[in-house]
Amino acid sequence: MDGLLEDKTAVVTGAASGIGRAIAHRFAEQGANVVVADVREDPREDGATTHERINEETDARAVFAPCDVSDPAAVEATVDTAVDEFGSIDVMVNNAGIVGPNGPVTDIDPTEYQRLLDINLNGVFFGSQAAARRMQENDGGSIVNVSSIAGIRGYSDLAPYCVSKGGIRLLTYSLAAELGGDGIRVNAVHPGVIETAMTTGDVPIVGTETGEQMRQSIPLGRFGTPEDVAKTALYLASDLASYVTAESVIVDGGMVNTA
Ligand code: NAI
Repeated sequence: MDGLLEDKTAVVTGAASGIGRAIAHRFAEQGANVVVADVREDPREDGATTHERINEETDARAVFAPCDVSDPAAVEATVDTAVDEFGSIDVMVNNAGIVGPNGPVTDIDPTEYQRLLDINLNGVFFGSQAAARRMQENDGGSIVNVSSIAGIRGYSDLAPYCVSKGGIRLLTYSLAAELGGDGIRVNAVHPGVIETAMTTGDVPIVGTETGEQMRQSIPLGRFGTPEDVAKTALYLASDLASYVTAESVIVDGGMVNTA
């Protein structure tokens, strides 16, 4: 099925790298013009920038917008970029996130904890807020928030991250209740372990002994790819999910519900 996002405009935060990069590219393949919003332009992994790739490899257009999602003014300006460049915003993907600080709760530095919440949770709030204002002026839209399986259940030594991702889940349900009347659907994606710089570098899981044990416990027998998450985000963003809102879609190969 092609052209699922024809004539649509999407903003994807954290789209320079990893999952956001795959979402931006997949959306563009389906016809959406994309604003690639990130604090950095180059991907954390190798390769051309996301917007260059989209402009070279698809018929859609992409622009880069420097944006720190913890800054509400920067997020607002990024959404304005979508409207100025492409005429509207139809899809907002709040994907940008970081994973640390991790470790025993008794050792967590308050400043680092606050920074994590500012990016992972408040960033999703500001992104939803800015997008909703514009979508209310139009015929609605779709907001897709990237949470985690750490927003479904608790994990030892990962309390700050779980707080942020669990918060996204309830923010999603609240916004779905509030914005449904404006034709705005709001859903969350909850990825499991996905192979990106976050899981190969920041918190090494992929390629480690612990990771291998974890992999064996996954019903589908493998870690996820950014593309696995991008396909679910596409479904939620598009008309295929026209009657789906306030939903949490777990994309983890069956890991969390069989643990
Ligand atoms: P990544 O580290 O590969 O990419 C994250 C991108 O977000 C980077 O380009 C980074 O520059 C950008 N970013 C970081 N702080 C930002 C800020 N303040 N403002 C704007 N952009 C910012 O990470 P990955 O794996 O692609 O993660 C994307 C999202 O998926 C995150 O929210 C993460 O928590 C979530 N996730 C990832 C999982 C995984 O296993 N990789 C599992 C579950 C959720």
